[in-house]
Amino acid sequence: MRESFLNEHYNYLKIVEYIEKKVNTGEWTAGRKLPSQRELAKGFGMNRSTVIHALEVLKDQELIESKAGSGTYVASQLSPLSQQINWNRYSKFSVHPSSNQAVKKINTLETHSNMIQLGKGELHPDLFPKKDFQKSLRSVADLYDAYGYNDGTGDNRLKTAVRSYLQENGVQYSTNSILIVSGALQALQLISLGLLQYGSNVFAQQTSYIHSLHVFRTTGMQMKGIPFHNNTLDTSYLEKQLRSNKSPSILYVNPTFHNPTTETMPLETKKEIAKLSKEYKIPVIEDDIFRDLWLDSTPPPPIASVDTAGHTLLVGSFSKTIALTLRIGWIAGPADVIEKLSDLRMQLDYGSSYLPQLAIYDFIASGNYEKHLQVLREKLRQRRDYFIHLLETHLQEVAQWNIPEGGLFIWVTFREEINIRKLWSQLIDNGIVVNPGFMYSPYPNQSIRLSYASCTEEEMKKGVLSIKKILQAWSLKT
Ligand SMILES: Cc1ncc(COP(=O)(O)O)c(C=O)c1O
Repeated sequence: MRESFLNEHYNYLKIVEYIEKKVNTGEWTAGRKLPSQRELAKGFGMNRSTVIHALEVLKDQELIESKAGSGTYVASQLSPLSQQINWNRYSKFSVHPSSNQAVKKINTLETHSNMIQLGKGELHPDLFPKKDFQKSLRSVADLYDAYGYNDGTGDNRLKTAVRSYLQENGVQYSTNSILIVSGALQALQLISLGLLQYGSNVFAQQTSYIHSLHVFRTTGMQMKGIPFHNNTLDTSYLEKQLRSNKSPSILYVNPTFHNPTTETMPLETKKEIAKLSKEYKIPVIEDDIFRDLWLDSTPPPPIASVDTAGHTLLVGSFSKTIALTLRIGWIAGPADVIEKLSDLRMQLDYGSSYLPQLAIYDFIASGNYEKHLQVLREKLRQRRDYFIHLLETHLQEVAQWNIPEGGLFIWVTFREEINIRKLWSQLIDNGIVVNPGFMYSPYPNQSIRLSYASCTEEEMKKGVLSIKKILQAWSLKT
């Protein structure tokens, strides 16, 4: 009896010491959520009552606090005696705001391998060209001879390959006009930091990937939504806005297989945008990272190919066609602008690592990239068709969608007003992650983003049947 009492006593101290150490070393910062009582009990192999006792002791020390219905947290106001800095106060008033809660949650759930990734913007591992890419990785050992930081613009061989790709798409640039970046997102960050000034207006499609980030909200920038009707940007609305606009501004568009709505702008709209950009002297960021993922026919050429004024900064990436963990993309634009952005790049991190650049260069030069794209398109086509078949079979009555002609996504809009947040959260409880439409727009919508690229056919079926079951339980006729 005495022995078990002593064991129990010793056990709760183990939990107390563990949490104290995490907090006092600053690994767990003020306001951080603690693992649940169940997880702690499992992790330490102890009774729930021992965990509760340990948490009570830590609460008495004011090191942690409980929030009704939400869980236990490291105290948001750590006692003045605590050695820990209140990092929350620092980050709250920092130049760059934190992600919103839904985005944070999605980012975390996307790392859980036991969840079905029904909305993720990433190729499923089955779609990665493992064998051929491994060959390119091996050849990096011979190609790698880089010495010094260079000018931060990237490996010349890769820049030359990007230049040829641009030429094939009607965009004529020399390699001085190309900057290799660590993914398209970095391209947007560089433009935001290096070219936009305090109080700039950023015009963008009302529903857009860009709303899920704070990339253009750092230093007093304003996002201005432009409507998108009948598969095209409302350029008359844009022109009205530009006419009355007094602030320095930029237009951001993702014109090919747009994330999340999948629409592709016709060439006529692109020409109209190039004309407005020239007339109102407004730079255009053309984020074209899904261009190569066409499934039915090649998309219209980029805005950059019809822009005679040199106002377009064209952004591309290998994240969606090979793997996003490579973190390699590019910006192409007027050489002077690229020089300014390269200077910023040198100040920030001296440029992207050469290893993935060389592997991608070899993958392109060996002809394996083009071969991979052909196989990838065929596989994505099959997945898209199957997903659409599932949706038509199970959700036709309650929702609508366009059949995507490329990219990774299907944008599903419910016919009746339903609680998207509740649907999202019940799906998570069932082990399924979709991307709720409210992440992509400040305006209300009734949509979710699904992906035919990030899951297997079996998972697609499970996901669609789960949505159907939840809606049926809510008495919606499916
Ligand atoms: C439209 C768009 N632009 C940029 C990015 C970021 O791409 P990268 O992984 O190359 O940084 C994404 C990622 O989902 C995207 O959808």
